[in-house]
Amino acid sequence: MEQPHKFTIVRTDLVQDAITILTDSLLIGRLRECELLLNHPWVSRVQAGIRVVDGRYYIFGLRPSNPVTLNGKPIVGNEGLAAGDRLAVGPFLVDVDINDEGMVLEVALQIGVEQYKLDASSPDFETMKPPPVQTGADPKKRAAIRPARLPSSKALDVFWDKRMREAGKMVRPSPLFPLSQRRTGKAQSIWTSTTDLARRWPVSFFIWGAIIGAVPALATAYWYANAYAPAPLSRSHAEKQLTISPPIAARANANSCTTCHTLRGSMEAQCANCHSTDAFVATIIKPHIEAGISCANCHPEHRGAEFRADEAALRACTECHNDANKQTYKGRSVNTPHLGTFGYPVANGKWIWPGLNDEEWARKKIPVKRLQTEDDQTWRSHQFHLIHQSRVRLVPGITSGNAQGQLSCSSCHRSLDPPDLVTPRTTCGLCHNGRVDEKSGRVLIVADKANCTSCHVQHAKDQRHWGASLLGD
Ligand code: HEC
Ligand code: HEC
Ligand code: HEC
Ligand code: HEC
Ligand code: HEC
Ligand code: HEC
Ligand code: HEC
Repeated sequence: MEQPHKFTIVRTDLVQDAITILTDSLLIGRLRECELLLNHPWVSRVQAGIRVVDGRYYIFGLRPSNPVTLNGKPIVGNEGLAAGDRLAVGPFLVDVDINDEGMVLEVALQIGVEQYKLDASSPDFETMKPPPVQTGADPKKRAAIRPARLPSSKALDVFWDKRMREAGKMVRPSPLFPLSQRRTGKAQSIWTSTTDLARRWPVSFFIWGAIIGAVPALATAYWYANAYAPAPLSRSHAEKQLTISPPIAARANANSCTTCHTLRGSMEAQCANCHSTDAFVATIIKPHIEAGISCANCHPEHRGAEFRADEAALRACTECHNDANKQTYKGRSVNTPHLGTFGYPVANGKWIWPGLNDEEWARKKIPVKRLQTEDDQTWRSHQFHLIHQSRVRLVPGITSGNAQGQLSCSSCHRSLDPPDLVTPRTTCGLCHNGRVDEKSGRVLIVADKANCTSCHVQHAKDQRHWGASLLGD
């Protein structure tokens, strides 16, 4: 192993102090791992190497397709070096001086030179002429002590191979702190885009971005709230004043969003809160509360201005209470009730219709009280008969009634001793059927289908009751 020699590199092309390296061999090239780093695209990654053998200096061309020239002549294999020599590597000139202490390499960059193509591996190499290079200052001096070329040997090839491989693998952190791992070897020359080194965006960019985004968003929220709604609100909730009398809402909604959507509390509470007046209270029947069925299940919103939430609710019953609906509600399943026809209050000779509780009964304003002696069955029958007879107007299909045109015993029973229990079954559908909305004249439920809420009242305190037009004075 050769003793380390002193190499002094003087860069006139860079603003850099002379640096001294102790080594027995030195690489010249564009790779950052080269001791003599010449950063220019014409320079190969590792183009040449200088090595000390028996106290003498030799230059080795390591890239036959891009040879270094020594005093204007391209180097093939290796060449001895003498003081006063001039190497040309790409656009760089490297002046060589050898003194007692070691070797001095002075690097200069030629500006405006043209790249020449030399290829030592090409068959025309001998006839190729590199451009003339101004040779070093003292041609006599260098001729005298130039060592003879070394015979090419396997050992030398292996030596440089090893040096080049090591250079290619060396990974030093970049002073620019790229985020991705530095690649090694040939992969380094494959270009990939990177954002690592891009200058960071100033914070003000984001602040202005936020302002530019937020201002129209807030303006829209203020002046055109519907922009954020899945679809416009129904007219009832968009209107600025109440239209129904007696009122069914405490105040107009006037297209407000926060009346229904609040951060705290359920939406149902908001609905019920506003829909609480003398004429209307938004109650929900017990079985529905237990099944988690609430306002929005029957009254959706955001279906457009023409949408009527009360009409939709009438249809919602059959859509949900259906054999085809396999969903469960708090573990409760639904099915098509009473075989898809009208429910009947008596089954197997027993009144299964639960009747009305005291509060609901009081609301009917029928001046009859339950007698102490009446059991559930008789009271249910009593309630049912009181609700219908001498109160409800006759409808087409029922011919017999009392003098006031209202239901009487004979409307439902052809005979009473014994009571005819067959005919009543044919009567229910004549009244508790499809409903025509009195205001719009629209058919809400087709004529031969049941109006579910006529028997299963949902909002018992609703004064605008379904049966109003059927009731006598
Ligand atoms: C009358 C009450 C009511 C008002 C007023 C109302 N909404 Fe709604 N909103 C609802 C209901 C009911 C739903 C459906 C919720 C569900 O399906 O669970 C809903 C759903 C939404 C949804 C969809 C969210 C989801 O969970 O599916 C958005 C967004 C929305 N509303 C925005 C608005 C905006 C914006 C406004 C004001 C213009 C507004 N709402 C006014 C009752 C209302
Ligand atoms: C199981 C279905 C169902 C549920 C749950 C329900 N409703 Fe209703 N609602 C109806 C039906 C059906 C109507 C149509 C009137 C009728 O036939 O009783 C109606 C009518 C209304 C009306 C109009 C009343 C009128 O006189 O025009 C309002 C207001 C109303 N509901 C509010 C609510 C509120 C608020 C809730 C929640 C607290 C609610 N509803 C829960 C079915 C329901
Ligand atoms: C801030 C008060 C307010 C809130 C909150 C509110 N409503 Fe209304 N609602 C009204 C007004 C006002 C009307 C129309 C009454 C009128 O025209 O006189 C109305 C009408 C209705 C009607 C009957 C008319 C129609 O279009 O079908 C239903 C059903 C109804 N609301 C259901 C609901 C439901 C369900 C909620 C909760 C999701 C709700 N409302 C929340 C004020 C409100
Ligand atoms: C979204 C689904 C859904 C809608 C809409 C709905 N219901 Fe229900 N209903 C249920 C569920 C679930 C139960 C509880 C069934 C149980 O407990 O087995 C129930 C229970 C009932 C019961 C009591 C049944 C019993 O066993 O005592 C009646 C009556 C009823 N609903 C009538 C109606 C009417 C009338 C409407 C329309 C105004 C309606 N439902 C709308 C899901 C719904
Ligand atoms: C709207 C139709 C209707 C009218 C009107 C009506 N009933 Fe009934 N009635 C029924 C039904 C429904 C039953 C139960 C049938 C069954 O058990 O299958 C019934 C049952 C009866 C029974 C059997 C006992 C019971 O309570 O179940 C008697 C008795 C009776 N009605 C007498 C009368 C008398 C008297 C009148 C007139 C004052 C009258 N009904 C008016 C529908 C009516
Ligand atoms: C001529 C029309 C007519 C006939 C026929 C009729 N009903 Fe009724 N029914 C009404 C009216 C109207 C009301 C509402 C009375 C009220 O609100 O005071 C009513 C109320 C009811 C109620 C009570 C609803 C509530 O307010 O809670 C039930 C249940 C009922 N009817 C079932 C039946 C059955 C079952 C039959 C067939 C045996 C029948 N009705 C025949 C007109 C009729
Ligand atoms: C003519 C009156 C009448 C009409 C209309 C009516 N029902 Fe009933 N319904 C009854 C009676 C009576 C019962 C048995 C007693 C009870 O549970 O209230 C009943 C029972 C029910 C039950 C519980 C038992 C079961 O089979 O699951 C549900 C749910 C129900 N009805 C839903 C509806 C629905 C949904 C509609 C509309 C398609 C409707 N009803 C229309 C009178 C009626």
